[in-house]
Amino acid sequence: MKGDGFYKSHSLIQRKVIEVIEPLISDAASRVPLPADFQPFWIVDYGCGEGRNSVIPVRTVVQAVRRRRRQQDICVVHNDLPTNNFNGLFKDVYGVDEDSYLGSQTDDGGRTFVLAGASTFYSQVLPKASVQFGYSSSALHWLREFPDGSLKNHLFHWGGAPDESRHLAELSAQDWSIILQQRARELAPGGRMIISMAGSLGENGYDGIDPAKVGQSYSAQKPLDLLNDVILNMVRESAISRTAYELMSIPIYMRTLDQFLAPFDQEALAGAFIVEHAKTDYMDCPFYAQFKQTGDVKAYAAELVATVRAFTEPMVVKGLSVGGGEESRVTRLVSEIYERMRAAVCASPDAYPFNVIQLNAVLCRR
Ligand SMILES: C[S@@+](CC[C@H](N)C(=O)[O-])C[C@H]1O[C@@H](n2cnc3c(N)ncnc32)[C@H](O)[C@@H]1O
Repeated sequence: MKGDGFYKSHSLIQRKVIEVIEPLISDAASRVPLPADFQPFWIVDYGCGEGRNSVIPVRTVVQAVRRRRRQQDICVVHNDLPTNNFNGLFKDVYGVDEDSYLGSQTDDGGRTFVLAGASTFYSQVLPKASVQFGYSSSALHWLREFPDGSLKNHLFHWGGAPDESRHLAELSAQDWSIILQQRARELAPGGRMIISMAGSLGENGYDGIDPAKVGQSYSAQKPLDLLNDVILNMVRESAISRTAYELMSIPIYMRTLDQFLAPFDQEALAGAFIVEHAKTDYMDCPFYAQFKQTGDVKAYAAELVATVRAFTEPMVVKGLSVGGGEESRVTRLVSEIYERMRAAVCASPDAYPFNVIQLNAVLCRR
């Protein structure tokens, strides 16, 4: 993510997605088995980012658990890569007001302990069978590895040539299985895991959502295709080299519901989970709805582009920095890319709404 609070300031869409799954979180937290007396209840947020979007779902779990056992001690582990802005995360957790899950701490009740788990979620983050409640939003579609040159003509996996697409689908399937195997190790029997991640409708759609009707098969496909088109135009103008472009691929894979469900029957998972809920949800772009009310196209374009920039800029910079690209040149090109995107949205505001396709699921560890 783009650092220094930029992601946090431009992650309203990710927050809206969390609102969709709030009832799933609350319901799962009211049913999950509590640990033995005097043992802590462990919550892990996998791929927490800077923290603001962690606070509300964790608060929902903490409150549900405390309603059931007032004196329950709770350990909250915020997991992300070691490079994550954990300082920003702790500021959010300790600094925020009534939203903070620490607000539910009472003198005669249990205590809540906040910890960071700085490691990849492709490995085990906590000891075996120790976690009662796992949670992850907008993170598990990030792949473990994305070999340079995997995509030649698009930044995103859906634009790959057939052999590239096949290869990335295989990588994604392996990665998804690894994520689930690691969670199977960590979750205690009866533990629950809530998952929300960017998804795909495939060719025919899922859960009554027709890709032809919504005009996209992947989450945020229209603005992400626009980013790709803008950069490709700059390649054609020789402002950016093709090598740099090929190094900018964004290492995410948006799975269909079938791809999501595939590993649960595989031997590697050996029936470890009951899938209590698995559904594809669709959400219209909240910025576009606001633009329709206010008519403020500049504000709409600025927020839309900032949201895309927050999670794509590091890869764009990586591509542009190839061969030790001069910093001022890289900075100028990055600004130009997102400025061109903003101009395109201003010129055709109906063409690029950030409509969300989300895979939402609840797993129960047997
Ligand atoms: C879009 S942010 C989501 C943050 C937050 N969960 C939310 O809903 O807004 C994705 C996060 O996943 C993290 N992430 C990506 N790959 C990861 C990995 N292999 N292990 C742990 N975290 C990872 C990124 O560092 C980033 O903070």
